[in-house]
Amino acid sequence: MDKAQLLIASNRGPVSFVHRQDGSLEHRRGGGGLVAGMSSVATESDALWVCAALSDADREAAAAAPDGRIDHTGHAPEGMRVRMLDIPADTFASAYTSVANSTLWFVQHMLYDVPNKPAFGSGFRADWERYREYNTAFCEALLHGAAGDARVAVQDYHLSLVPWMLRQRRPDLRITHFSHTPWAPPEYFRLLPTDVARELLEGMLGADHLGFHSPRWADAFLDCCAAFLNVAVDTAARTVEFGGRVITVGVHPLGADPGDLRERAAAADVTERRETLRRRVGDRRTIVRVDRTELSKNIVRGFAAYRELLTTRPEWRGAVTHLAFVYPSRGDVPEYREYTETVRSMAKEINDEFATAEWTPLVLEMDDDFPRSLAAYRMADALLVNPVRDGMNLVAKEGVTVSDDGCALVLSTEAGAADELGADALLVNPFDVTETANALHAALSMPRQERAARCGRLAEAAAAAPPQRWFTEQLRALR
Ligand code: G6P
Repeated sequence: MDKAQLLIASNRGPVSFVHRQDGSLEHRRGGGGLVAGMSSVATESDALWVCAALSDADREAAAAAPDGRIDHTGHAPEGMRVRMLDIPADTFASAYTSVANSTLWFVQHMLYDVPNKPAFGSGFRADWERYREYNTAFCEALLHGAAGDARVAVQDYHLSLVPWMLRQRRPDLRITHFSHTPWAPPEYFRLLPTDVARELLEGMLGADHLGFHSPRWADAFLDCCAAFLNVAVDTAARTVEFGGRVITVGVHPLGADPGDLRERAAAADVTERRETLRRRVGDRRTIVRVDRTELSKNIVRGFAAYRELLTTRPEWRGAVTHLAFVYPSRGDVPEYREYTETVRSMAKEINDEFATAEWTPLVLEMDDDFPRSLAAYRMADALLVNPVRDGMNLVAKEGVTVSDDGCALVLSTEAGAADELGADALLVNPFDVTETANALHAALSMPRQERAARCGRLAEAAAAAPPQRWFTEQLRALR
């Protein structure tokens, strides 16, 4: 196989496959802004993206193209090779579901119901061993594909151990690791078994450069290094001295891609959905939210705030509709399934309490329909983004970017996006339901001109570092 100068590693890749009815394979876009960011860099050097095969169709596509030359036209940059790893099912379940999603995600987003969880027994140690194996599989594939002095960009908490694994075998490689999540402060990170906490930090410190979306997360990471490892941390310069090397820690907030988004939002399928939604809500005001049914997204308190708005300010009854487009994710994690059910039943309670013959107060849709989300962003009067903790949150940035007449943004202080959008958003403490209800009222009552002016500035701030720039900046940190 040809060796690549630039390699990316992430659990979820830029493309995924499904079987058509006749059994043939159809490719679809994978997830995320990273894909868009890659299009500019891939052209300057030979590039390889290593990811996990997530379905039988993915495995079939991968087996048919062991050199990584699978068909991904329109999803990944032209000429880029994509290698999908066939990870054994039990290894994947332990690494992805038990360690990455049920442990590391819970720690970084501080989601545990602490009187009861976590409890790390022998089952966890077995899962952790498999997490190592899963990271090793990525390491091997990257070593196999990397040219001398190649640059390797490792993504997220699924692959925390990869940088150190690579470093030991190939000191010539130049490695970045980017965390798309927040980072927990040492008092919370301490929940992890101490040996695991150390292995995780040391694993990441195998990189030359570590990236985070917000200075808050970068600084928390440095605090954890100081608390758990015997290393020299310079908090002002954001560096860590480890194993005779100086590792730099950088803040690279990912922005929206305005050109791409606006073009997509102007397409016929979006406009058609916008008309359908408009017929559904009539001339009422709209509060929009778009999320996965994800514990960190705080959908339940968001609904509670909407209920409080309707209770304490009856003038909004019949005059506003809440469009909540939330779709289930990570169904293998029991907490997510329960949360999805709570979201569903709470929406029903609100409608049972307030609905009239002419008015449905809360429209809940639970399928993932991106054009419909864009349609909702375009027409929103208020956009509600209230996570309890979030690495960045691109909904906030995408929503203000495609808004037709300017929407007011109600935004959690605990989202990384608040660093850049704080000046013109209505910031709320995500745990304060009353404050959120008041912010929704303020958003709906904001004079049109002020709303449009704020939204314009928000869109500008959201576009400060579009994916291409975000990615090149990290690579530059390697030079
Ligand atoms: C969100 C997070 C990322 C994470 C991704 C994984 O987008 O911001 O940090 O990598 O979810 O989601 P998945 O559906 O693959 O579990």
